[in-house]
Amino acid sequence: MICLGIESTAHTFGIGIVDQKGKKVLANIINAYKTEIGGIIPAKVAEHHIEVLDDCLKKAMEKAGIRFNNIDLIAYSQGPGIGHTLRIGAAFARSLALLLKKPLIGVNHCIAHLEIGRFLTEAKDPVLLYVSGANTQVIAYEASKYRVFGETLDIGVGNFIDTFARELELGFPGGPKIEEFARSGKKYIKLPYSVKGMDISLGGLQTNLSKRIKAKQDSKEDLCFSVQETVFAMLVEVAERAMAHTGKSELLLGGGVACNKRLQEMARIMCEERKAKLFVLENQFFIDNAAMIAICGIEMHKAGMKTEVEEANIRPYERTDDVEVKWR
Ligand code: ATP
Ligand code: FE2
Repeated sequence: MICLGIESTAHTFGIGIVDQKGKKVLANIINAYKTEIGGIIPAKVAEHHIEVLDDCLKKAMEKAGIRFNNIDLIAYSQGPGIGHTLRIGAAFARSLALLLKKPLIGVNHCIAHLEIGRFLTEAKDPVLLYVSGANTQVIAYEASKYRVFGETLDIGVGNFIDTFARELELGFPGGPKIEEFARSGKKYIKLPYSVKGMDISLGGLQTNLSKRIKAKQDSKEDLCFSVQETVFAMLVEVAERAMAHTGKSELLLGGGVACNKRLQEMARIMCEERKAKLFVLENQFFIDNAAMIAICGIEMHKAGMKTEVEEANIRPYERTDDVEVKWR
């Protein structure tokens, strides 16, 4: 079975094509909306997605080397995300399903980050540490659902990092710049560390950092180094607590922040210490992508799940544990 997946929950528009039998991602085309300064305006991102959608489809088909009649299933990200952008992906998915006369399936974006790990690696039942711009969650399967065991109580870790980088005048996205500067950091500056059970909070740290940056008393390198050490320790601690709580021995990383090599290293050390396994993906599968939507769609379709075209809506506020998991 070959599935074409569509991702449009936020600033990334993507088309992925996955061959289930060959266990292979045939194409994973990503086009992310970028701004020089400031945040993103939903209507502008939606316009961007409309502009790039034809080109993404063309590139994906070429890369996969297939024809439209080879496609067996259309999957799209149904939520959670920004209404304006989700609507573009859903409309595009409905049109393709009608045109090609193929079944359609709506997918939860957060769960797709976990399913791609199960598809591409040996992981069977991992705890997912999902760390992206807007999302910071520890997710695992328990009692027939994917459940959120811990999350950020205020801002997502990626957004936190981007704000910090903007204040240091390092540009956007901040993550890769912070990682680079952190490598030359020498001194650890003690910063607020806030873990509450399996949740974390970053607001206090953000205020503390703003003050420090204004005071200009620390070097950028030391600040970046100390921020990484502090925030990643918080993330690894909550991930470990979730593993202990659920009795699971696999950890999977997901989301753009998971591209960070120091976070990967800290997660690896924690896993080694508790004789657990860490699963790391290629960066293109960490960030928002459509291959994961196609993969999750395939799993759902195999379990007999289907979204009728008339019901193929969007779910901007869908929670991870709202989803009925029939495929596990
Ligand atoms: P969501 O999935 O929640 O909608 P998103 O679309 O912003 O969020 P991603 O594309 O998964 O998410 O991730 C983007 C984030 O990842 C940005 O905040 C960026 O700074 C961060 N990031 C990317 N590379 C690195 C890195 N090497 N280290 C730390 N953070 C990174
Ligand atoms: Fe994501």
